[in-house]
Amino acid sequence: MPLETRPDPDPADVATLELRAAASAAAMQAYAPYSRLRVGAALRSISGRIHTGCNVENASYTLGGCAERAAIATAVQVEGAGFRLAAIAVAAFAEDGRILPVSPCGGCRQALVEFGADARVSFHRPDGSWIETSADELLPWRFTFP
Ligand code: THU
Repeated sequence: MPLETRPDPDPADVATLELRAAASAAAMQAYAPYSRLRVGAALRSISGRIHTGCNVENASYTLGGCAERAAIATAVQVEGAGFRLAAIAVAAFAEDGRILPVSPCGGCRQALVEFGADARVSFHRPDGSWIETSADELLPWRFTFP
């Protein structure tokens, strides 16, 4: 199709692509000498800002942290307690650069719903394509403070 007749891309699609690209870039910053699994997360807050995070491991394994919660911690630090989550993308790579299908762990799911149950969540399927769901769908019957 000639360039001048192409319809403008949907801004929502462009925003999603931008978030997924930012998650992939964030994964390259991972400190993961033990699992050798590089995980990156990029989130968009309701304010429109993007915040990223990566996994940071430790020789004392249980001290390691997930990419999603690193991104959330940055978002709260920058935006304050009013931070609300609109969307998050998670991307993971093996040492050889292969895309790995990693969905948010259970603890991270609880952290996502804390800031936005309706937030859109994207991650890779085993075939390498992206899937998009919501934080709510990822954690039904979750704990809420009684
Ligand atoms: N990891 C994440 O960063 N996010 C998840 O949701 C699942 C797991 C990281 C933690 C650890 O550094 C590595 O992946 C292997 O568990």
